[in-house]
Amino acid sequence: MNDVVIEAKNLKKYYKMGETIVKALRGANIKIKKGSFVFIVGPSGSGKSTLMHLLGALDHPTGGSVKMDGKEISKMDDWELSMIRRNKVGFIFQTFNLVPSLTALDNVKLPLLTDKRISDEELTARAIKLLKVVGLGHRIYHTPNELSGGERQRVAIARALINNPEIILADEPTGELDSKTGAEIFELMRKMNKEEGKTFIIVTHDTEYIKHNDTVYHIKDGVIKETSKRELEKNGMKGKKEIT
Ligand SMILES: Nc1ncnc2c1ncn2[C@@H]1O[C@H](COP(=O)(O)OP(=O)(O)OP(=O)(O)O)[C@@H](O)[C@H]1O
Ligand SMILES: [Mg+2]
Repeated sequence: MNDVVIEAKNLKKYYKMGETIVKALRGANIKIKKGSFVFIVGPSGSGKSTLMHLLGALDHPTGGSVKMDGKEISKMDDWELSMIRRNKVGFIFQTFNLVPSLTALDNVKLPLLTDKRISDEELTARAIKLLKVVGLGHRIYHTPNELSGGERQRVAIARALINNPEIILADEPTGELDSKTGAEIFELMRKMNKEEGKTFIIVTHDTEYIKHNDTVYHIKDGVIKETSKRELEKNGMKGKKEIT
């Protein structure tokens, strides 16, 4: 059985800005195994979010290949990519990206509202169950402005899980949170990884949440190198914004 869930080869992403071309990714390679809990670190502007967008079928690369479950997705059209996202991927963002006018429950239901394969009753039941899993059973009808930062991110985690995705991509999920709340969010993500076998790919500047046996990739100048917490510490790259 093939246990590689995402594989990117020689991945390139160039952005055209008027006369200049920004080379965000210049031939990045990465292989993510099913059920792993993987970190991506690197300086600001090194291409981390760009990489996440390509691995999560949100955007097309300029060149190279991205395979999900062995299937080439880099050349799919927008509709095919949206199907991949709906069936396989969940996203968690730094700024939560919740809809302010909707309750926690409706925010969690949102990704599957147009999915005709699931009835509203079933979707509501699934969303409530997930809100309970993330510890928000008592906040179901609160809107985002009636929730703390950590609670908002928990809603976003429940939303990322609503389609029962194989892969969860989190781009600086604790960037807006204090360190205690950040630690709780990491605890929750590790629990989902261990108990549900979900694959997590996490971009972070907060290296305190990385453990010594975690897989860590360092992205710099548009290419990716495997590293470790120990290596990062050895090179003086611990703590916020010190990663270079
Ligand atoms: N839509 C875009 N158009 C043009 N240039 C872009 C676009 N998105 C990103 N870039 C550029 O590509 C490079 C990589 O950006 P990216 O957002 O991937 O960095 P990052 O590693 O996520 O940074 P940060 O840690 O600050 O979030 C940067 O130089 C950025 O300015
Ligand atoms: Mg980014």
